[in-house]
Amino acid sequence: MTLAELEIAKAESLKEISAATTGAAVEALRIKYVGRNGSIPALIKAMKDVPKEERPAFGKAVQAWRAEVEAALGAKGEAKVTEAKVDADLTLPGRWFGLGNKHPLSRVIEESAAIFSRLGFTVADGPELETRFNNFTALNTPPHHPSQDRSDTFWFNDDCLLRTQTSPVQIRTMMGNKPPVRVICPGRTYRRDTTDATHSANFHQIEGLYVDTKPVSLADLKSVLAYFAKEMMGDGVTVRFRPHFFPFTEPSVEVDFTCHVCKGKGCNVCKQSGWIEVAGAGMVDPRVFKHVGYNPEEVSGYAFGFGVERIAMIKYGIPDIRWLYENDVRFLSQLG
Ligand code: DAH
Repeated sequence: MTLAELEIAKAESLKEISAATTGAAVEALRIKYVGRNGSIPALIKAMKDVPKEERPAFGKAVQAWRAEVEAALGAKGEAKVTEAKVDADLTLPGRWFGLGNKHPLSRVIEESAAIFSRLGFTVADGPELETRFNNFTALNTPPHHPSQDRSDTFWFNDDCLLRTQTSPVQIRTMMGNKPPVRVICPGRTYRRDTTDATHSANFHQIEGLYVDTKPVSLADLKSVLAYFAKEMMGDGVTVRFRPHFFPFTEPSVEVDFTCHVCKGKGCNVCKQSGWIEVAGAGMVDPRVFKHVGYNPEEVSGYAFGFGVERIAMIKYGIPDIRWLYENDVRFLSQLG
């Protein structure tokens, strides 16, 4: 074949390909031109018979032919795919994308934010790495308090630790804002606990803080937590306060919810008491106000803090805290 003959054959082949209308015709042309025994591979094999001086130019022309044929066949193939899509039965149900579930801890945090936002609370945030001042000193917690001990807390240096509670966000919020303040602060907290069914070295808390220049009382705190209990756990769940001690509140209370399973009658979940402990709370200690530059004569307020894992475990009946961190879909998908 001469160079001129090759150009004619090439034009012919491209015309044939562009005229092909079915997948089978395109495939037949692919075999005819570039298949193992097609005309282009045959030309390459016959290259040795071409006079030496003409070989480079001839070889180039054959390669160009091959490239153009392949491009033309490729374009036909794509067109075929589009046609196939349009031909498909459009009434068939779509492909199913497996929808995931929200993690129970995210659910409790989001639901809490929604409930408290209905009472005028906004969400405040703070860092997980805290100063001694924000995590302890300003919260009226002296250096000898056991919670400051190295065996209970992850210290980076003398002044810097992984926060042991979300209460330091109270300090940040008051230092950055004038009263009234009304916030909840969800977040991750850290303690040197050995992990077992009910403890984990990192867990989540939601802090609440309300401070106003109008008098705020323990009754306000109780009504807000009663509303939260009912919204989060369902009708018939209410709160009880038991006297307790926290360095940053006076008076301080521990907060129990009526057992949502037996509604207070007594069952295995509440160890027959009818109540489940969920939070710590109290009236903000005047010393805390002094630390953040508020005048305790002019403001009053309450604070509370509860464990997110705790709420999730009782709400969804989860017996082991570790299930919340294992990311086992068999567990997570049950809460759909
Ligand atoms: N920070 C406390 C804890 O981790 C919980 C707590 C108790 C928070 C009383 C408060 C509060 O705001 O007033 O155990």
